[in-house]
Amino acid sequence: MSIEVQYFLSNILFGLAIVIPLYYLLCRYFKKSKKKRKLKFGHYLVAVLIFSIIFFIRWKVSEININKDNDIKEPNQEEKTTTQTTTKKAQNNPNYIGTTPKGYTIEKINGAYYVDGYLVVNKTYPLDSNWVPKNTYKPVTDEICSTCIDNDAYDEWIKMKNDATSIGLNIWIQSGYRSYEYQQGLYEKYVSRDGKQQADTYSARPGHSEHQSGLSFDLNSVNDSFAATDEGKWVQDNAYLYGFIIRYPKDKSNETGYKYEPWHLRYVGKDLASKLYNNGDWITMETYFGIDSRYKD
Ligand code: DAL
Ligand code: ZN
Repeated sequence: MSIEVQYFLSNILFGLAIVIPLYYLLCRYFKKSKKKRKLKFGHYLVAVLIFSIIFFIRWKVSEININKDNDIKEPNQEEKTTTQTTTKKAQNNPNYIGTTPKGYTIEKINGAYYVDGYLVVNKTYPLDSNWVPKNTYKPVTDEICSTCIDNDAYDEWIKMKNDATSIGLNIWIQSGYRSYEYQQGLYEKYVSRDGKQQADTYSARPGHSEHQSGLSFDLNSVNDSFAATDEGKWVQDNAYLYGFIIRYPKDKSNETGYKYEPWHLRYVGKDLASKLYNNGDWITMETYFGIDSRYKD
């Protein structure tokens, strides 16, 4: 029974506790002949008894209500502050979309989603079809481009490549920037080959690929066997030192939405990359921020 209904019943009982004894007394009074119109002590006693019974029931109902009200948890100070901060952020920030269950702010800026200031592209958060990365090492002019990579990411990539070379490893960018239209063609090709359900496990739909962001690229060979090569092993354990993460780690497809891709790197900067590295047991961006990667249809 809802609190409102219980309140209503309680008030009815309160009314009855007054009205019924009064009605009883009046009936007794007017039933007497005019001469004997006098109430006996017994009548008052019965009226008081009726009042007490109904009042007692009403009191018990109120007690249940109070207990129920106390069960509703008061937000603690931290929760109050978070709510106040969130409301303030929402009021002052025209890009504000929401806050993740882990307390990170989601914003949409110029056709891209940012969580805690980090660009996020996955099955839930797409890039607009006309979104093109700016500040890239080589400006975007074509549908695909392996050096149209964000400047900071590219600087770190060069350091990483050089360090790998110095220990006899050979890593190269196999696929870098891909436009919305190029990804569309790629995805459609995979759908016609393997079906939509299967394609969705390894290829992003147009707008949902990190390759459109200029912050991601694939290394060497797009094949599971890459993980077991010397290059694959070194990348797994050293990429974070340069600010890169294995974006689709092993056994995390229920979080990322994609099967394991040991070759796909995403630049997030050293700070976040070190947190996500987690001694080799990668934490996904989805789990870290508390976000989904799921298509609506
Ligand atoms: N293979 C990744 C998920 C992409 O298509 O962007
Ligand atoms: Zn990739």
